[in-house]
Amino acid sequence: MTINTSKEPQKRSLGTLIGLLPFLAPYKRQFVMAGLALLVAAGATLAIPYAFRQMIDLGFSTGGIQGANHIDLYFLALFGVACVLGVATAARFYMVSWLGERVTADLRSAVYSHVVIQSPQFFETTKTGEVLSRITTDTTLIQALVGTSISMALRNALLFTGGMIMLFITSAKLSAIILVMLALVVLPIVWYGRRVRKLSRASQDRVADASAMAGEILNAMPTVQAFTHEHIEAQRFDISIENAFGTAMERIRARSLLTMMAILLVFGAIVFVLWLGAHAVQGRMSGGELGQFILYAALLAGSIGALAEVMGDAQRAAGATERLLELLAAQSPVQSVLLPDTLPPRTAQGAALTMENISFRYPSRPENAALSAISLDVRPGETVALVGPSGAGKTTLFQLLLRFYDPQHGSIKLDGVDIKYLELHTLRNAIGIVPQETIIFSANAMENIRYGRVGASDAEVIAAAKMAAAHEFIERLPEGYQAFLGERGVRLSGGQRQRIAIARALLKNPPLLLLDEATSALDAESERAVQGALEAAMIGRTTLVIAHRLATVQRADRIIVLEHGHIVETGTHTELVAQNGLYASLAALQFNGLVDA
Ligand SMILES: Nc1ncnc2c1ncn2[C@@H]1O[C@H](COP(=O)(O)OP(=O)(O)OP(=O)(O)O)[C@@H](O)[C@H]1O
Ligand SMILES: [Mg+2]
Repeated sequence: MTINTSKEPQKRSLGTLIGLLPFLAPYKRQFVMAGLALLVAAGATLAIPYAFRQMIDLGFSTGGIQGANHIDLYFLALFGVACVLGVATAARFYMVSWLGERVTADLRSAVYSHVVIQSPQFFETTKTGEVLSRITTDTTLIQALVGTSISMALRNALLFTGGMIMLFITSAKLSAIILVMLALVVLPIVWYGRRVRKLSRASQDRVADASAMAGEILNAMPTVQAFTHEHIEAQRFDISIENAFGTAMERIRARSLLTMMAILLVFGAIVFVLWLGAHAVQGRMSGGELGQFILYAALLAGSIGALAEVMGDAQRAAGATERLLELLAAQSPVQSVLLPDTLPPRTAQGAALTMENISFRYPSRPENAALSAISLDVRPGETVALVGPSGAGKTTLFQLLLRFYDPQHGSIKLDGVDIKYLELHTLRNAIGIVPQETIIFSANAMENIRYGRVGASDAEVIAAAKMAAAHEFIERLPEGYQAFLGERGVRLSGGQRQRIAIARALLKNPPLLLLDEATSALDAESERAVQGALEAAMIGRTTLVIAHRLATVQRADRIIVLEHGHIVETGTHTELVAQNGLYASLAALQFNGLVDA
């Protein structure tokens, strides 16, 4: 899967926008209503200069009783047109903005729910920040397109065509002159305006860079302070912010120049045309006609400018659309099969697990075999300890059991069913895991444990907490189970976080339990408590436990020693110590001679 990682959505051919159609299709009715409002508003806009002329020529110029009546009538008519314009414009704005917000919300949901079913491989190659920026920034570009640009384009195309026709009807000769003038005035403004917009985007990007940097550092405050990097970080941020300031100033200078240029050019053109018109009025044109003419010319100029701007927006939206569609098209390499098998009913002992000749390389590092030729039979109810040096492949084995990745060779069977033919949810519901790195969500203790089984009652949560030796410390928190644990669980100690994670896995009550260094962060006393709890929890289920600690390893039915992705030794603690191989040396090192004694 290759994903375009450039920050700036590239300009793409507008054809890409067709990909948005499925998101627009459900709202046909709203589009028609918005279109109607738009037509009425454009018609009213085009009628205003005409009404003006009527008012000036017939209203002001005709005297007498007749004239006074006319005045009332024409003013009333003009106000009527304005009323229609106001209501129709408001209706168009409402409908079109609604569409923009609706489509963006749908897109965001679609992208997010697609991203959360991707396998870990996806998150190894795609940065989270990038997914976030697509859900926020890219969808905002599309929102601008649907919510503003499309209607702007239609409205201005209508105004342009209508204005052009009315202009030529009013005076063909002046129209030809004014077209040349418009080209001379509008084109440079549009061209320079683009440059300004590019600069303003660059300036936003610089601010985003600075805040991304600050975000990472704020999340790592203890490390920053422990290494006394506060000043270095502050300086790095300073440089980044100064950079943003510089870019902003560039934009402001360009913007000032643009403002001056626009005012000079536009007023120059207006004065010139007025001057021409003044000469024409002396000849054949009435004052009203001249007024009408100038208003149409202004409409035309406005519409050309707006159309040019819309083109730029549409191109950027096309780039954003392409990236979003790319993200939506990403297929997770791990998929449920169409016609999944089912697991046999759960037995009182737990699940049986068979691994046959598994070999696996991480897709991001294909040159290294993380696991090779692993074969292992685990009886229901058995407790198997996995030990081995760091990087041996222990955690990798768990990842394969959960089908976060599929092995390149070999098969894994749960209760005799190849896990490839199980629905992902069926498989993962049968497995409880306490991962090596504990994840605590910013919620209270109750909710964090309940994550193990949505819908578990408070009593069940508390029972699981008691089993995991977590109840006591949770009770001592100021608000007990309702205590907020902080972002990433910062308000807990490492051992407390681990016990929450154990309680979460126990609440799930799975037939297969995977413990990855589940007690590594505990002191001797809590470890004994948790150990006892885990042993109780191991009854009625199969358990694979990655551990270095003697207590855990010794009580396992079997110990598997992994090294460089191979199984090098198998046996009970006593057998392996007697073999005097890798396990014996690991144990000797770790327990500081305890084992030999
Ligand atoms: N996502 C990944 N992409 C590429 N390589 C990986 C990935 N995760 C782990 N590895 C590599 O695979 C090998 C096995 O890693 P694994 O996490 O299974 O080790 P471990 O036995 O659990 O070690 P530890 O005891 O330190 O937790 C290591 O060499 C590691 O660098
Ligand atoms: Mg590990």
